[in-house]
Order: sequence, then C-alpha cells, then structure tokens
Amino acid sequence: LLHTQGKRDLAGKRVLISAGGTREHLDPVRFIGNPSTGKMGLALAQAAINRGAIVTLIHSIPAGLSSDFPAIANGREERGSMKAITVVSAEEMRQAMLLNFPLSDLIVMSAAVADVKPGIYSNEKLAKRSLPSTLPLEPVPDILAELGNLKHPHQTLIGFAAQTGDIVTPALEKLQRKKLDFIVANPIDQPDSGFGSDRNKAIVIDNKERQFEIEPCSKLQMAHYIFDIVQNGTLVL
Ligand code: CTP
Ligand code: CA
Repeated sequence: LLHTQGKRDLAGKRVLISAGGTREHLDPVRFIGNPSTGKMGLALAQAAINRGAIVTLIHSIPAGLSSDFPAIANGREERGSMKAITVVSAEEMRQAMLLNFPLSDLIVMSAAVADVKPGIYSNEKLAKRSLPSTLPLEPVPDILAELGNLKHPHQTLIGFAAQTGDIVTPALEKLQRKKLDFIVANPIDQPDSGFGSDRNKAIVIDNKERQFEIEPCSKLQMAHYIFDIVQNGTLVL
C-alpha cells in the first residue's frame, strides 16, 4: 500500500479510468497506433483501489494487466475492487466509456486515443502489393469532449495532455474546450516522463486555472498526487 498513507478518501466511490493506446486497424495485422504502454492508467487504477474505490478500467494494453501493480494483477484487493474491460479501437473505448460513465463519480481519461483512423478496412489481410499507396484518414470522435458535454455536476472529469515544448497553454485550452475539472499536462520530450517511462512529471491544472506542479516521481506516486489534488484541492509533496 505504497504512498497510500492510510488514505481511504475514495471509499465507495466509483472511479472510471481509461488506459493504453488505441489501435485503428486497416486490416487484421496493420493499424495506426501510438507508443502508450498504459502504465499511468494502471497506476491510477492501483492508487484508486488502494484508497477504497470501486474501479472500472477500460484499457487497450496489449501486454495485459499482469504488471507491477499487484492489486490489478489479482483483480481484487482488500480495500477496493476492480473490473477491467479490454478494447482495441477508439470507437470500442468510446462505447465502453459511455456505458460506464453514468454511474461513475470520478472519470480519468488517461488513454492515448487515436485522432484519426484509416478510411478503409479489410476483414482479410491485405497482401502488401494490394496496399493503397496513400491511406485515406477519417476523424475519430473525441471521447473526453463527449463526456464533458454529458457530465453532471456531481461528477469529476479528468483529462491528460501529453505535450512537447510549452505544456500549459495547450493543456489549458483542452481543459476549457472539453469542459474538464482537471487536466494533467504531461511533458513527453523530457527525461523521467512520458510514454513507457516508469516515472513521470506533470503540471495539474484545475478549472479555476490553478496549477499544481508534480516533480519527477514514480507513476504510482503521481497517481496518488493527482487524487490528492482532486480530493483535497491541495498538493503536499
Ligand atoms: N481524447 C479522447 N478522445 C480522442 C482524443 C483524445 O478522449 N479521440 C482525450 C485523451 O484521452 C486525453 C485528452 O483527450 O485525456 C487530450 O488528448 P490530446 O491528444 O492531448 O488532445 P487532442 O484534443 O486530441 O489534441 P491534439 O492531439 O491535437 O493535441
Ligand atoms: Ca490527440
């Protein structure tokens, strides 16, 4: 129960978390994807369970959930509980999120969702000679923006923004555009953070534009800091 410090402030709360990178297939063996490994989402699920939450994890983690996170690997832990649903594409993730959203108190969209998908799909594997020389692309619905429009006042909606360079300006724009309560602005072009890393750093921004800086730490520690900010409105490092 590392970093939990006895906190049970999510006891009985229903927490919905998305994790991993979606894959948009053009045939059974080829897809448009991204380097997300799902570690941050798994850490959030673990932290929420340890704080007593009832967690639903919607994930697209190809390696599965047998990870460094025991509560997740076991599916159940004495403090909270978890249900995990595997998806592949953004549309599948969208359906699963929409289904579970109405009964959730806290929703964290930590998945790296595709922005576009191939405009073609073949059920059979295409031979390379029959692959098109250019790939038509179609937009993928923005799940988080959709949830922002559906959100009730008692629900807390948290997004992520993986950015290079200036992380705050684009994250703030996303927080406002998607009607979020919090956004976690995540530098991906620096050591100790980003895709696949075991550690992370971030600036959490709330809907009053207050900023909370989280110094480099493990992803599990960061998950707890995020819940500290969300639950208490402060961050004690
Ligand atoms: N997101 C989503 N559905 C999408 C794309 C993104 O729900 N189709 C969510 C992500 O899970 C993340 C947040 O929106 O919580 C911000 O994702 P990001 O890729 O940074 O923002 P975009 O709006 O896609 O903008 P861009 O890629 O142009 O920076
Ligand atoms: Ca995007």
